[in-house]
Parts: sequence; structure tokens; C-alpha cells
Amino acid sequence: MNEATAALGIEAISVYVPRHYLDLRDLAEVNGVDPRKYNDGLGCLRMAIPSPYEDPVTMGWEAAAALLENYRVDREGIGLLAVGTESGVDAAKPVAAYLHGLLDLSRSCRTFDTKHACYSATAALRHALGWCSLPANRGRQALVVATDIARYPVGSPGEPTQGAGAVAMLVSDRPHCLQLEPYPEAVYAEQVMDFWRPNYSAEAMVDGRVSVDSYLRALEYTWRQYAGNSGLGLDDYDHLLFHAPFAKMVHKAYRRVCQLQAGAGTEPGAAQFERHCLPAVWACQELGNLYSGSLYVLLAALLERLQERASGARLGLFSYGSGCCAEFFSARVGPRAVHWRGKIGLEAGLLRRQRLDYQTYLDFRAAATAFNRDGSYWQAVAGWGNGQPVSFLGIRSHQRVYATATRQPAQALEYSARARVVK
Ligand code: COA
Repeated sequence: MNEATAALGIEAISVYVPRHYLDLRDLAEVNGVDPRKYNDGLGCLRMAIPSPYEDPVTMGWEAAAALLENYRVDREGIGLLAVGTESGVDAAKPVAAYLHGLLDLSRSCRTFDTKHACYSATAALRHALGWCSLPANRGRQALVVATDIARYPVGSPGEPTQGAGAVAMLVSDRPHCLQLEPYPEAVYAEQVMDFWRPNYSAEAMVDGRVSVDSYLRALEYTWRQYAGNSGLGLDDYDHLLFHAPFAKMVHKAYRRVCQLQAGAGTEPGAAQFERHCLPAVWACQELGNLYSGSLYVLLAALLERLQERASGARLGLFSYGSGCCAEFFSARVGPRAVHWRGKIGLEAGLLRRQRLDYQTYLDFRAAATAFNRDGSYWQAVAGWGNGQPVSFLGIRSHQRVYATATRQPAQALEYSARARVVK
């Protein structure tokens, strides 16, 4: 195989699932909403809630550290770390810089974040693929991490679609999990105010209806473009993964491509949706919106749920980032599930997590806001001790503090003196 046709894609994938969740029926009750609106109308069942000691750095670390361990990856082979995130913790310093330190990666490793709302991880993946394709980088690996906390104001229409989590992907010329097909790109960009988060706000602002319309417009454009470029139609795909801000959006997207394929009045049958989309979309119902990771957690879900039955499947993937930039592309699942079986961590993470009551969900939000202010370190460390392998311990002298080992609450203060400070 020569340079131009080298197989490239995702060698390994791992997911971090936050340890807590809120049941959407509990949220509906407090908000005075019919729970069927959240469960059926939006397709959301539960949403992942990060603890106040978590942030995009710690969640990215959890996903990436598990990947390095479960797939036995040699850190020295990683020459690029790209983090896709839209909930970055600093206006200048990338999440990638913190992760590089916490993961003990090589000094010969390029690090940066990408930003374009939920498209950011696809931008990072594209960059990583291009980097891997260079002859000078043959045999080296790139680490792409998507990590985000999706947060909207309490009581707002976006609140039931919140979520959190991280996905880590190892990109290389050994695409055991997913090999991208080499058709010309199908991308769409348009300046649109559908979702944004000003620097002074911890919560996203969204015009939900505009974003749904913009998403479908971008899907229609890229679907047509990719069909023209590749000659592939709906029946050529075994499964379709659509960016999932809430699960019902996947239904809307699927209906739109069915109509593009078969005519405006077409309504896809349940069996058709079940075959094309259901093996993946359940992850969104359980976790909520992962923003940058939302498309890639669907990939992880499909691999875990289908195992060997996913082998060799052709996938169509649609990535959408508000603002907006979008892309449709296709890829083949690797031939053998032995490469990912037992290593992804999605279902195991879901089994481990605990249900929060509504008041604790509010308390977590308030604590997270407090911990993200300068001088919060002493407040954060005083309550620390929840057993996470890596914790965000507030801010001291304008620097974020991360501890990389677990201690009981009584020992927290003593241990904090030795907590690793990542500058
Ligand atoms: N039982 C069943 N379904 C119900 C219901 C009930 N009692 N009440 C309402 N619904 C349905 C509605 O008919 C609607 O379905 P449809 O979209 O198929 O028409 C769905 O639930 C949502 O109701 P709607 O009134 O449109 O919700 P909303 O205006 O409160 O909020 C969003 C919906 C998507 C705008 C909002 O969640 C949001 O802003 N999300 C964040 C942005 C986002 O995710 N954008 C996506 C593109 S990236």
C-alpha cells in the first residue's frame, strides 16, 4: 500500500462515564413538565452529572488513561495530542497541556485544543489523520480526546439535554476499530447564532429551534455532497451515526436522509431505524449531550453493543458543531472485535454510576461554580476525598490544582500539600 492509499483511522477507543446521573423523570417533576416530553419527545432518559471535583481535564484524563492502560499503548509512540472541547477551562492554555502533563506523555508531542462547538473533535480527528499520513510520521500514533460538560441554565429548555463525559481515540495507520474511507470530503460551514458561550458565562446560550434547523440544513448539504462524491446511498450503510445533542435529534436526522433518498413524504419504518441507528443511539439516552464527544460515544456504543456483529460494517457519520461547521464521512469497522472487546468502558461505566437526587444535582452545580473562582482551593480541598483517581481541587493563585491520587477526606488537607500542581 503506498502513501496515498495507506489505511488510516481509529486504532483504539475508550469512554469515561461520570459517576453520577440524574433521572429525567426527577427533573420533569421539579420542572412541572410531563415526563413523556423528556423521555419520548426529546428521547432523554438519564443525564450524566460530573462531580464538582471533575472538569474537562479530569474527564479527558480518565478516558485517555484508561485507553493507554487497556490497550497497552507505549506513551513514547504518541507524537500528537489534540483535544476537542467547547468547555475549555482557560482562554489561552489548552486542556491538552494539562493532559500532556497528567498523562506523562513524551516531550516530543505536539499539543493543542480545537474549538468549533461539537465539531471540535472531528476537526482534531481530521488533523490527526493528516498528521499520521505524513511519511515522516509512519508508525506513530496521535491521541484525540473529546471532553465536555454540557450545561444550560436551570429550568431552561436545554436543561434536560445536558450531559458530560469524554472519549479518547488513538489514531494511527493500524485502524483496528474504524478505518476511514478515502472519498473526497463533504463539509458545510455557515455563520449562524444557534449556540454560543461568551467568555464571561459558564453556561451555554442556545436558540434551540435555530440550531435544529441549522443542523438539518448542514446534514442535507453534506449528505448530498458525500453521495455525489462517493456514489453511496442509504442502503450502502450498515449503520448511521448522527451527532446527538438529544436522542430525538437522531430520529429527525434519519428521517431527513430517508426523505433525501426516497422522496419528501417518506417516513422511515421502526425496523429500518432500529437497524441503522438503534445500536448506537442508546448511549445518548443514558448520558445526554457530550458535545464534542457526542458522535464518538455513539461509535463506542455501537462497537460495545454489537461486538463481532459490527465487524466490517460500513458506517456513515455526521458531525455537527453549532456556529456552524459540519461534515459527513464514511468508514469501515475493523474486522475483529478482539481489538476493542472489554476495553471501551462505556457499559462498565454506566453500571458503576449512582443516581443523584435533584437537590444534590443543584448542590453539585453550585459547588462547581464556586470551585472555578480564584482562591477556591481551600474550600475545595476541605471537602475532598471522593475517591476519584484524579481530581480538580479548585484554583490557587490563578492556577488550577489537580491531585492525582486518592485519599480519605481526613487526610485530604495533609495530602493537598503534596497535590500535584499543574501550571
Ligand atoms: N409527550 C410527548 N412528547 C412531547 C410532550 C409530551 N407530553 N410534550 C412535548 N413533546 C414533544 C414535542 O412535540 C417535541 O417533539 P418534536 O420535536 O418531534 O415536535 C419535543 O417533545 C420537544 O418539545 P419542544 O416544545 O419543541 O421542546 P422545547 O422547545 O422545550 O426544547 C429544544 C427543545 C431542542 C429546543 C431544547 O431542548 C434545546 O434548546 N436544546 C439544546 C440545543 C440543541 O440541542 N440543539 C440541537 C442541535 S445541535
